[in-house]
Amino acid sequence: MKIKKAVIPVGGLGTRFLPATKAQPKEMLPIVDKPAVQYIVEEAVASGIESIIFITGRNKKSIEDHFDKSIELEQMLEEKQKLEVLNEIQQISSMANIHYIRQKEPKGLGHAVLCAEQFIGNEPFAVLLGDDIMVSEQPALKQMIEAYHNTNQSIIGVKAVANEDVSKYGIIDPGNKFGRVHSVKDLVEKPSIDTAPSNIAVMGRYILNPSIFSYLKMIEQGVGNELQLTDALRLQCENEKLYALELEGRRYDIGEKIGYIKAMIEVALNRADLHRPLLSYLEGIVEEELVKKLDQRKVPSKNII
Ligand code: UTP
Repeated sequence: MKIKKAVIPVGGLGTRFLPATKAQPKEMLPIVDKPAVQYIVEEAVASGIESIIFITGRNKKSIEDHFDKSIELEQMLEEKQKLEVLNEIQQISSMANIHYIRQKEPKGLGHAVLCAEQFIGNEPFAVLLGDDIMVSEQPALKQMIEAYHNTNQSIIGVKAVANEDVSKYGIIDPGNKFGRVHSVKDLVEKPSIDTAPSNIAVMGRYILNPSIFSYLKMIEQGVGNELQLTDALRLQCENEKLYALELEGRRYDIGEKIGYIKAMIEVALNRADLHRPLLSYLEGIVEEELVKKLDQRKVPSKNII
């Protein structure tokens, strides 16, 4: 069955990015000159998705405005003959059929996905999290959709992470591996490194069979007192087969400050208009830092007797 619908949950509070997220959604923070959420929508569209539903919450109106038509702005750009930007702006509002549902309280990612039940109906669908920006030759979601068509079972995107990062993610207990696809025996949300079954972490890409909705209705509050999608996936994998695909490409966790800074730098370095000035700036500051480090190591001559 073709995967035509995607859910993008943006109802979270973004507390790791306060105070920037006090009055604006973290999904609207720009990576160079595009809000993070636009990269996610572009990935979905490039993977063949036709309809997108955002699960929104308080302070998220600017996401709706971003994907809406802006008549005054378009008129102004036309009058000023800024046709290239005009074209870019018009494309944003016609990328896909976009719908919105409001999650009344941020009760967790599992609850956010459950809010999409009526919109999805009885077909497999994609979930993309705005925190994970993937830069890859083949869009990450497309990789997932291709893998799904081999199994027709729910599949989650994964990547190995450093041991010190294991406690930040959902972690899979992997079974057999076929190429880049693992069968999943179990999952744990944010385990300590001592109890983690592996270092293979769930990234924010999922293709889910609609049976996930019945499991989402069975779960209780889990880690962080939230309804966790991971807990519903655990139930799904007890009753059905569940797979995980090792995604190819670079992934940036922009929910965290350091991940956001890395994404900004690397995306800018990949842009023809920014590559040179940014690289020469970075070379300059790295050199300064190295000189400072060397100076600190030198024994001051006045201390030598
Ligand atoms: P996170 O826990 O990473 O996002 O949820 P958060 O809650 O916004 O951020 P922090 O941890 O407080 O900094 C993963 C994804 O699930 C969405 C978030 O918007 C994010 O895309 N989410 C989370 C919801 O849509 N609703 C929720 O109730 C919780």
